[in-house]
Amino acid sequence: MPHRIILDVDTGTDDAVALMVAALSPDIELTGATVVNGNVPVEVGTENTLRVLDHIGADVPVFQGMATPMVRPDFPIPRVDVSSYHGRYLDLPPARSRKGAQHAVDWLIETYLASEGDITLVAVAPLSNVAMAMKKEPAILEKIPEIVIMGGGHEFGNITPSAEFNIWADPEAARVVMTCGRPIRLVALDATHRALVSREDCARLRELNTPASTAAADLIERRIQGYDEHQPMHRTGTAPVHDALAVCAVIAPEVIETTFVHVDVETHGELTVGRTVCDVAHRGGQAPNVHLALNADEPRFVSMLQDILGRTLPD
Ligand code: RIB
Ligand code: CA
Repeated sequence: MPHRIILDVDTGTDDAVALMVAALSPDIELTGATVVNGNVPVEVGTENTLRVLDHIGADVPVFQGMATPMVRPDFPIPRVDVSSYHGRYLDLPPARSRKGAQHAVDWLIETYLASEGDITLVAVAPLSNVAMAMKKEPAILEKIPEIVIMGGGHEFGNITPSAEFNIWADPEAARVVMTCGRPIRLVALDATHRALVSREDCARLRELNTPASTAAADLIERRIQGYDEHQPMHRTGTAPVHDALAVCAVIAPEVIETTFVHVDVETHGELTVGRTVCDVAHRGGQAPNVHLALNADEPRFVSMLQDILGRTLPD
């Protein structure tokens, strides 16, 4: 039986790869995608999400959500520009499909309430949509079997010295979700930076010559260029594809290595706002709430990308 998931995105180059993996994997049934402000303004993320799904011929409903963080209307909204890794519009033809009429938060609530408790929520963006849905209708909580989040970091951050972008971009929302009491797997930067994709891997993707593999090769090569220039990894010519690792972890849990610890989110710290405080040494005395991924199986991840992105959907 495929895993039913909803994917919450801010597309975004790594979100684009994650969407293609989710839509093409025979082990996943992608019920819908919800879009939130993050890498790019939410309208741009929605258009990008539709572009990606159209490009591979995937008929998946897409719902636009929160345009701002939950309680910080003045928080730096997309700091990225056209010259960044994510750019604004992805370099794919304009979307033919249209977004759903409902707000993403309302669609999440309606879909979870009507579900049989079998839809995993995979959030690879700031957690504004997810937290708002939980606040607005707490009854959805018992219908969410697991939340898989790409976000946070234990050893390091990527937007500040101590914070990862998805958590930093809406720390209050992240705190609501992290402490919601449902099972959580947190795919942190520590793990995604240990699952790097190289230029050689992109060349192999390109050889597969499918719409998804060539688009992914283009997107990841662009990421590699950006990482080499601004945030070099321990091997040059490589980049993390954070969000795709989170989706792969739904398909094959062994692609990440987790430890069960207490995690909370700093919402006030002058230097540490948006930090995921991970009690890996069990110093705080609070019960573990998060299966925290600090490591990943890079060869397995890369081979999953090759296998899944080499697929096409029937016309
Ligand atoms: O820090 C990496 C995360 O921030 C990814 O989800 C990326 O798409 C951005 O949203
Ligand atoms: Ca993302």
